[in-house]
Amino acid sequence: MIQLRNIRKRFGQLEVLKGIDLDIEAGEVVSIVGPSGAGKTTLLQIMGTLDKADEGSVVINGTDVTSLSQKALARFRGQQIGFVFQFHQLLPEFTAIENVMMPALIAGRSHHEARKRAEELLGFMGLSERADHKPAELSGGEKQRVAVARALVNKPAVVLADEPSGSLDSANKAELHRLFFELRDKLGQTFVIVTHDEGLAEQTDRTIHLRDGQVVSHTEQPQAATPIAPISQSSEGVAGSGVPAADGSIPAADSILPDLAPETDATSPTATAKTYLA
Ligand SMILES: Nc1ncnc2c1ncn2[C@@H]1O[C@H](COP(=O)(O)OP(=O)(O)O)[C@@H](O)[C@H]1O
Ligand SMILES: [Mg+2]
Repeated sequence: MIQLRNIRKRFGQLEVLKGIDLDIEAGEVVSIVGPSGAGKTTLLQIMGTLDKADEGSVVINGTDVTSLSQKALARFRGQQIGFVFQFHQLLPEFTAIENVMMPALIAGRSHHEARKRAEELLGFMGLSERADHKPAELSGGEKQRVAVARALVNKPAVVLADEPSGSLDSANKAELHRLFFELRDKLGQTFVIVTHDEGLAEQTDRTIHLRDGQVVSHTEQPQAATPIAPISQSSEGVAGSGVPAADGSIPAADSILPDLAPETDATSPTATAKTYLA
């Protein structure tokens, strides 16, 4: 599903990733752990094509992403990768269901189709009753589950999550983690999750320990379920969602939605979104 080979990245003098090799199989839930500054976010962003490595190759679902043009890359990202960040990054002016529909509309799905898929996902997340509420009217846990629904709306090959439960209390954290595994078991969804949560890491199929830009060990969880065959993802599948993070190192929300919609002239995610929901 994902093959990273000899990924190297530096920011000025700082060598952040020092030759990472990593394979993620379809239907796996893989966690990445390690001290702050180890390079986890940088690695996830390179895996998600939001950032480029200085050296090495990234192959996702058979496509060498380093060979794609900017525009092709934006489309590929929209269709194959879903993102969930520590802070939900929902667009505040839109309801939960509109936020979930957005990547599907951008990927060219009809309004009807996007709504249907978004309703199914919100139902799956136990959020049917909250579909017409705006983010400010939702709890932290609800917002994060809406963000997961948004990440899934285009049936991405993989969902990349960067400390997705980092801002949640323990009950919401447990619920979110349970959802990840339910999505894997029922839909065959592949996840790569950067986390500080040891309980979550222990539940995943495999844990990659990163330190100073290198993989120092892999832990396989013996009790992990055998990954089931994933639902077909394919080129006609649709888009990941993605809206970026909040800790400064991740591109601001603005960088993704317009990027997913290169044909529009809109200059902000909200403006872009309005053109799709008009
Ligand atoms: N855009 C950037 N410019 C300069 N340095 C950066 C940038 N992004 C990350 N870094 C640095 O790279 C190192 C790894 O960062 P990061 O990947 O965010 O680590 P982690 O997610 O494991 O905490 C840190 O020292 C961080 O300060
Ligand atoms: Mg980080």
